[in-house]
Amino acid sequence: MQLLKRTAFCGQITKDFLGKTVTLNGWVHRRRDHGGVIFVDLRDRSGLVQLVFNPASCTTETAEKAHTLRSEFVIAVQGTVIARSADAINEKLSTGHVEVQINSLHILNKSAALPFQIEDEGTISEELRLKYRYLDLRRHQMHNSIKIRHEVLFAMRSYFNEQGFYEIETPILSKSTPGGARNFLVPCRSQPGTFYGLVESPQIYKQLLMVGGMERYFQIARCFRDEALRASRQPEFTQLDIEMAFVDEEMIQTTCEGLFKILWKKFLNIDLQLPLKRYTFDDVFKRYGSDKPDMRFGLELQDVTSVFAKLDLSFVKAAISAGGKAGCVVVKNQSFSRTDMDRWSDRVTKELGAKGLLWFKWREDGTPESPITKFLPADFLAQLQAIIPDLTQNDALFVVIGDYDDAWTILGQLRLALGKDLGLIDQSSFQLFWVTDFPMFEYDKDGKKWVARHHQFTSPQDGWENQEIKDIKARAYDLVCNGEELGGGSIRIHSAEAQSKIFDLLGMTREKAEEKFKFLLDAQTFGYPPEGGVAFGVDRLIMILTGTEAIRDVIAFPKTQTGSCLMMSAPSTVEDAQLRELQIKSTYIDPKASKK
Ligand code: AMO
Repeated sequence: MQLLKRTAFCGQITKDFLGKTVTLNGWVHRRRDHGGVIFVDLRDRSGLVQLVFNPASCTTETAEKAHTLRSEFVIAVQGTVIARSADAINEKLSTGHVEVQINSLHILNKSAALPFQIEDEGTISEELRLKYRYLDLRRHQMHNSIKIRHEVLFAMRSYFNEQGFYEIETPILSKSTPGGARNFLVPCRSQPGTFYGLVESPQIYKQLLMVGGMERYFQIARCFRDEALRASRQPEFTQLDIEMAFVDEEMIQTTCEGLFKILWKKFLNIDLQLPLKRYTFDDVFKRYGSDKPDMRFGLELQDVTSVFAKLDLSFVKAAISAGGKAGCVVVKNQSFSRTDMDRWSDRVTKELGAKGLLWFKWREDGTPESPITKFLPADFLAQLQAIIPDLTQNDALFVVIGDYDDAWTILGQLRLALGKDLGLIDQSSFQLFWVTDFPMFEYDKDGKKWVARHHQFTSPQDGWENQEIKDIKARAYDLVCNGEELGGGSIRIHSAEAQSKIFDLLGMTREKAEEKFKFLLDAQTFGYPPEGGVAFGVDRLIMILTGTEAIRDVIAFPKTQTGSCLMMSAPSTVEDAQLRELQIKSTYIDPKASKK
């Protein structure tokens, strides 16, 4: 059959086309039979247009064929664009003033009954959507996300090209480097018993590209991390990866801000004010209990240790004399009931893992109400007001006492939960800023040792040799938007001597370091330029630009929370012959075999 080749897309057919003959290709979105006249909403990637099959103006053969059309049949049609009658105008559609009177119809393919309708409205289970992802992609909402994703990637490429960057692809099959995120392993058939690790990011390659004199590199890079999956994480995701030689933090940040200005204008119609704000880690952690605070609302944390240190309560005294602190969140003008307050306490202990949460509110006569009322001094409110001047007896107060990092982290999560529950978050605003001056190391409480907070190639700030390990700050920075970490980067260590000292601090012997990173340590001795970079989570960025809540909705073929592809049923077991070839003995226990 000869294909009727399209002369226009459905979504383009507006009044400008009146009287013209058009050929359209697409899917039958909906079909209605109005007493012999068939109406079809034809859909292609640009949108919908209404077709009319009127026996009075088309051949009997075409009219009869139109009767056989069903949802999702693939068709090619030819007809004339006419105006709709006044009562049939649909203002919601760009094509709602016209319809196409068809004189020729080719059915290119039929469709079986669908597992769900291709509509944006209604709730389709995500499991079903992911199983039939190719159908789900036909929905306008999905289509729009994928289109925006394409436009964002295109804008990135064009921006970095203009800035003199090279786009360089780096390997995906790489060396497994235990330490950071867990690697996915790929057995190497030609060298039995050995494995590649899938890259968790192109980090080491991009540093080596700077040694290789490329100076300005970017890549839209696939990264693989076998880690616990949360709402905005995927095992396989995309980064916009950047590295620059002969730069400092400011130059990297400024270069990236130029891109964000373009993206914010193009996709959100917002004129981003540059330079973006920079906050230190210490500052945001103190105020928000998080290194990626959502600044779209207030509820800043306050340190009320001095008030609580005076209470005659053994658990409070014990915590504060052990170096702990008392922090609080104030909710203004809230008449929470006792039950409400208890519910928040419950949530903080059960969901956030806090040891406890103290709450305080005040009766009309000004006396405090709390689980520890009898331990409170008469001037409790006044003492608090000396620290929090705008506190009144109409406000509610939540207090966590303990180790500063732990207590503030819990308070930060409580702040976020309160902000969401009380509807304090301005959904139309975008708070985009840098967080800088991160601690270089953090104490890995499980392993009871210091580990690099960013990665072990991050440069410490000047003066670090004379500081205690806990006080050393990194030349690292994150880009944060609306409570999400959108990106992170650093200036790298380029001196072999400094690198050795950092490995020493991390308790890594020279032998161990060489076993893992000999190539980089060698490279550091061959004229390694000062350099740094950053990587942004592309999927998270598209979520923000499309206002989408789920990372899976901005990825064409995503994995579930348990890392499965429901469409292809991956991961899956493999044939014994494949394992034999790889010289791997599977530990998979066949459930059927174990039942015998
Ligand atoms: P980092 O590990 O911070 O830095 O990653 C950079 C950004 O990638 C995104 N991201 C993810 N997105 C979806 N799913 C995941 N599992 C996931 N993990 C990370 C986040 C994050 O901010 N090599 C360094 C960068 C550098 O130093 O230049 C790196 O990978 O938005």
